[in-house]
Amino acid sequence: MHELSQPALPVHRAIPQAEGFDNTYALLNEGYRFIGNRCDALGSDIFSTRLMLKRVVCIRGEPASRMFYQPGRFTRKGAIPPTALSLLQDKGSTQVLDGEAHRVRKALMMQLQSPEQRARLVALVESEWLAQFRRWTRLRQVVLIQEAQAVLCRAACAWAGVPLANIEEAVLRTAEFSAMIDGAGAVGPRNWMGQALRRHTKQWACDHIKAIRMGAPVDPDSPVAAIAFHVDADGEVLSTEQAAIELLNILRPVVAVGRYIVFGALALHQYPEWRTRLASGDDATLHTFVQEVRRFYPFFPAIGGRVLEAFDWEGMHFAKNDWVLLDIYGTNRHPSSWSDGEVFRPERFDSRAENGYNLVAQGGGDFASGHRCPGEMVTVEITKATLRLLAAEVAYEVPPQDLGINLERMPTLPASGFMMEALRPAR
Ligand code: HEM
Repeated sequence: MHELSQPALPVHRAIPQAEGFDNTYALLNEGYRFIGNRCDALGSDIFSTRLMLKRVVCIRGEPASRMFYQPGRFTRKGAIPPTALSLLQDKGSTQVLDGEAHRVRKALMMQLQSPEQRARLVALVESEWLAQFRRWTRLRQVVLIQEAQAVLCRAACAWAGVPLANIEEAVLRTAEFSAMIDGAGAVGPRNWMGQALRRHTKQWACDHIKAIRMGAPVDPDSPVAAIAFHVDADGEVLSTEQAAIELLNILRPVVAVGRYIVFGALALHQYPEWRTRLASGDDATLHTFVQEVRRFYPFFPAIGGRVLEAFDWEGMHFAKNDWVLLDIYGTNRHPSSWSDGEVFRPERFDSRAENGYNLVAQGGGDFASGHRCPGEMVTVEITKATLRLLAAEVAYEVPPQDLGINLERMPTLPASGFMMEALRPAR
């Protein structure tokens, strides 16, 4: 008899499994090192486990990030814990859209980050810093994270076309944006605080959108006007709430850049030989320094995605809807991409060592078709401009304080927030 031949089923390699039934508690305890610790123990850059009782595949390194950032492969919908999502991008925002809807909204976000828009924002940040330095000469001590967040909040609101009316409003908005960033990675009170303040900020943003749509005067080239009158993929303008969410999504992350400014100041303190070089304003030097700050210091620990269509990668199978976490912290330090990755060494960027997949502090791959952060370039430019000013325009002492970085806390910072004393003009 003749046997019917069956098509051969692909043989898949099993994804190594981490120890323990559920590792949520370990994630909260180990923070930024959670994925890396298990990869090291298993000798594998991929493993599966459970978090919040749900199966998740954790990956790290450049090949994994190339797989993760293939356009159309993953959605962010259902991939980011709701407590974090509502404090960061929120429901219906660019980040949780896919396909054509994402393409159209992302084009708006990229338009708001054109070279002209970026230059305008950086110039506002610089003039806010110079005004802040003049105030510093009357103060005994400042905490840099607070100063940076206040400066960036004022500059971002002026840039977007929603300038802050007075000091009280500036203080309130800065506190709200800062609490959202700080609460995003937390469970419990730190997160609840961010959520409570977010409602207030959303109302403020809704009021601006409504007023502009009803004819309040606004610069037609301003980001707030572009958002208020943006026509989405469905041919409609955004709902007031959705427009408010996108307005907050271009303001809050500018305030978040304060964290890189603090890490940059810490690096400048620990490697003082860089001060004169940064003060010179040489663009290439500033670039290498800031890229190393973004590579070396921790901010977003990981980014989640859910598989849109089943696929195979390196002999392993990913089914539709599988939950995958790319380790940002571990990829930025992975030994196969970075020699002495645990060492702060800006010279490694002399030859433009980044390739869009090995330094993923703000995501990777293509800006327009993928989820890579549209604010990456302006983040680099703001940090460069600020570090140049800190090196060239002010002199200060760094008093004894706790500059330790707790890797169990997400997002983290030097514990003291970076205190500075004896503030005076540099010249
Ligand atoms: C401290 C600076 C920043 C960090 C660490 C950061 C980090 C990130 C990360 C990790 C993502 C997610 C990438 C992904 O889903 O794969 C992202 C997306 C995004 N970021 Fe940023 N970001 C920063 C600054 C900014 C700025 C300045 C803006 C705008 C003014 C911005 C706007 C956005 C938007 C709209 C998205 C969603 C993009 C999309 O899904 O297509 N971010 N950012």
